[in-house]
Amino acid sequence: MADIAVIGANGTIGSRIVDEALRRGHTVTAVVRDPAKVDRADDGLTVATGDVLDTAAVAEAAKGKDVLVSAIGGGDGAGHRALVEPSARALVEALRTLGDQAPRLIMVGGAGSLRTADGSQVWDAPGLPDWLLDIMHAHGDALDFLRTVSDVPWTSLSPAAHIAPGERTGAYRTATEDLVVDGEGESRISAEDYAVALIDEVETPAHVGERFTVGY
Ligand SMILES: NC(=O)c1ccc[n+]([C@@H]2O[C@H](COP(=O)([O-])OP(=O)(O)OC[C@H]3O[C@@H](n4cnc5c(N)ncnc54)[C@H](OP(=O)(O)O)[C@@H]3O)[C@@H](O)[C@H]2O)c1
Repeated sequence: MADIAVIGANGTIGSRIVDEALRRGHTVTAVVRDPAKVDRADDGLTVATGDVLDTAAVAEAAKGKDVLVSAIGGGDGAGHRALVEPSARALVEALRTLGDQAPRLIMVGGAGSLRTADGSQVWDAPGLPDWLLDIMHAHGDALDFLRTVSDVPWTSLSPAAHIAPGERTGAYRTATEDLVVDGEGESRISAEDYAVALIDEVETPAHVGERFTVGY
């Protein structure tokens, strides 16, 4: 069983990651800014306080863990710009302070940088609003940074283009750089099945030092 710290554990995706980890018997530390907002008391769940940009707090929460998951989000476009790439830097900096004892880092990423069938990237599609481009490029910048990191084991997991709460089917397909699209031409995944894929990666590491993506 793995000992997993999840930052952003209250979020739409983060809470599903916590659910999936706990249902498989892993131990989870939910790292949140305000513990009062955690209204659950599951077996195997501990709550710790920390902001993702606070390297000392992150290092403390990550110490002794097998995996550190970041599922943070910045809300709107400007919030993502201010948070996502800086958080990647802060997380790596925090893990570096733990040296050989650093857990593996898995970051929830974005779909914008994935390649589409015509060879362009998702964010090249015409007509995307500025707020969405900001969110996509915030994740792109974080991924660019992670790709410079070789001394901390990292993985970035990009959702399909559309991710929302839904059914846990346990069935999904993965790719590394190409957007996963179903038979109807849709790129989608439930947040529950995204969490299945992420915890599968925790249990069986297959994408250390790279990005991968998941969809139906
Ligand atoms: N198709 C796609 O590419 C796609 C689609 C959806 C989401 N995403 C990405 O997935 C990530 C998670 O999305 P979501 O929908 O689950 O977001 P969400 O529901 O808004 O949750 C975000 C979480 O981040 C936490 N957070 C924000 N700032 C923080 C900080 N400074 N320190 C610690 N925690 C912080 C929030 O904590 P509080 O509870 O304290 O506010 C919240 O729990 C986002 O980065 C989003 O861009 C990608």
